[in-house]
Amino acid sequence: MTEPRSLMTLSDDVSVTSSTRVPLFGADLTRRQKATALGICSAESASQLFFEEGYDFVAIPLTTEDLKYRVESLAPTDKLAEFHEVEVGYYPNEFTNQVFGLASPWIELDSDDPLVVQRSSEVALREAEYAEYCGLQAVILFGPRNSTNSMQYGAVIMELLNKTNIINIFVRIDISNNEADYFSSWKVWQAIRTACDYHPRLHVALEMPIKESPPIELISRWYAEPIGVLIMSCLTFVANPKGYPVLGRKHKAILSLFLQLKPRLLLCDNDEPNRVGASPDYSIYLKHLIKTQPPPPVVEDFAEGYKDYLQIPLQPLSHDLENITYEVFERDPVKYAQYEQAIHAALADRPEDSVTRIAVVGAGRGPLVDCALRAAIQSGRTVDMIALEKNPNAFSMLVKRNREDWASKVTLVFGDMRQWRPDYKVDILVSELLGSMGDNELSPECLDGAQAVLDEETGISIPSSYVPFVTPIMSQKLWTEARKLGNGAFDRAYVVLMNAFDFIATDDEYRFQPLWAFHHPDRAAIQHVDNTHNKRHAHVRFQVSTPGVVHGFAGYFEATLYKDISLSILPTTMDVKSPDMFSWFPMYIPVQNPIYVPENSQLEFQMWRQTDGTKVWFEWAANSYTILRNGKHIELSSTRIHNPSGKVSYCDLS
Ligand SMILES: C[S@@+](CC[C@H](N)C(=O)[O-])C[C@H]1O[C@@H](n2cnc3c(N)ncnc32)[C@H](O)[C@@H]1O
Repeated sequence: MTEPRSLMTLSDDVSVTSSTRVPLFGADLTRRQKATALGICSAESASQLFFEEGYDFVAIPLTTEDLKYRVESLAPTDKLAEFHEVEVGYYPNEFTNQVFGLASPWIELDSDDPLVVQRSSEVALREAEYAEYCGLQAVILFGPRNSTNSMQYGAVIMELLNKTNIINIFVRIDISNNEADYFSSWKVWQAIRTACDYHPRLHVALEMPIKESPPIELISRWYAEPIGVLIMSCLTFVANPKGYPVLGRKHKAILSLFLQLKPRLLLCDNDEPNRVGASPDYSIYLKHLIKTQPPPPVVEDFAEGYKDYLQIPLQPLSHDLENITYEVFERDPVKYAQYEQAIHAALADRPEDSVTRIAVVGAGRGPLVDCALRAAIQSGRTVDMIALEKNPNAFSMLVKRNREDWASKVTLVFGDMRQWRPDYKVDILVSELLGSMGDNELSPECLDGAQAVLDEETGISIPSSYVPFVTPIMSQKLWTEARKLGNGAFDRAYVVLMNAFDFIATDDEYRFQPLWAFHHPDRAAIQHVDNTHNKRHAHVRFQVSTPGVVHGFAGYFEATLYKDISLSILPTTMDVKSPDMFSWFPMYIPVQNPIYVPENSQLEFQMWRQTDGTKVWFEWAANSYTILRNGKHIELSSTRIHNPSGKVSYCDLS
């Protein structure tokens, strides 16, 4: 393994930074970019050879069969005590930090026989303690054979975790061991990790299928789980015409998906008589496969190292943003290209010989002013440019840019757009005050005030509308990251580039549900003083056909800038509306208690956009139920209201 000893536990440090929509690079230099590691099951005597063959780690049995014989001969009252010399399979050596321990395969923590459970627990605990003593990264135990005893198995694992300090426990589970119920092994894992209260040192050692290929829904469920190692049998490989081991098309596709998680790949069954190829052939092939994976999407490339990293959303109204934040905004060419196109289209709709007054409100360091000026040149229209900003630091930058780049032709206004009342009217009001769910950075409230300057007949707002969308997700990673943040962590939403997660809603057409909309200009809004017109409530339903656990909801937005020119971070439309745009990561809206949803159940989500005139906040809740054949609704579970009265998180209107 590549991690230094000081970073031995697999769980990263609490990862949260404040105030951003995308990562601020340099904010945390300690974060490492992980790479896929290759390992192989080995006896201690052969491990050196495997390192020479290019493997990054080995998994070694901690004890020998002699231990089994002794345990079988013990009387019920005998103690296991220390290992005898012949029973020890591994001694610490210079490769210790590249070794995983394999627990005895013959122990049965889920047996129906209490004595077997007791003996097995003793052995498992001794082995885990020994592995920890040796300084190994993790110990891998076989998962329960008897799925009805998963809770009992979980109780023993919890004891191991409680009695050890740093060793990671990997539970070996076959991705699909039951064709009648593909999700049965996932349900076993779900029972164990729930029994262990999502312990940060508990991971799954997931066994890839050897022959059959499970459905994609199951693969993507597992993708969202904390995979400590991905176990591949050498028997999964087939010989190519030259006799070298390769993977078939389906296995290659499954592996390619998991490779995005940069897993530890562990080859086993390498001593089976009917396997193909020699040991280095596997590592050469797998390394080639890893190297030839398609490049990640632009957004992931931009934010590598920040996947699943929780960030507090920006509050550009009540906080003055820093230079670096503006710099990060300006790295996304797509957002500005869309705005430029929208301004161009709006100008083209104006009479040819008119002078169009354009105001960029919340101009920051001026990139949208550049867009408007370029659009004016391209459309051959004469414009009168105004740039307004309330951040005094960014305003200084506008002053400098006006002199150096805009020949002092731009009228600069310092102040809050909500109170701006010039003695002229504006034709096009351009703003970018959008959050990951559209209205969550208070664009509606700011534009309600600013729109007073718009020409009442012909005034245009860019954007003209925006809509937030949500969908339920399963993600142990995001949920446990939130939990680490302590009090109030489940009463706020986070901006995050989600990676280890899965969608729970199975109906493609209704997977992402719109919550509400805001339109600008909104003439009715000018009349309101208490902001109640910006309250919203949505109640949406999702169909669930495969079992899962809801750890929260993912939030997205779509915005119409002008006519058919839009911005979107919604997975179903982003590639068409604003491909490769990376200005906004989705929101993670957590629930405090994960909601188990069985197959063929329904999930409801409610969200409220609340305001008391001084602040705006969001509240949310969810519930699940099934519908019986006779149409009766059976309630399964429901959450509390999160963030009631905005007690934990809110956006200040002052
Ligand atoms: C998300 S940034 C966009 C900056 C720039 N237009 C861009 O696209 O790179 C929003 C800007 O609006 C400013 N802002 C927010 N609320 C404002 C208000 N009520 N009045 C004036 N400026 C505001 C913030 O200070 C910030 O500079």
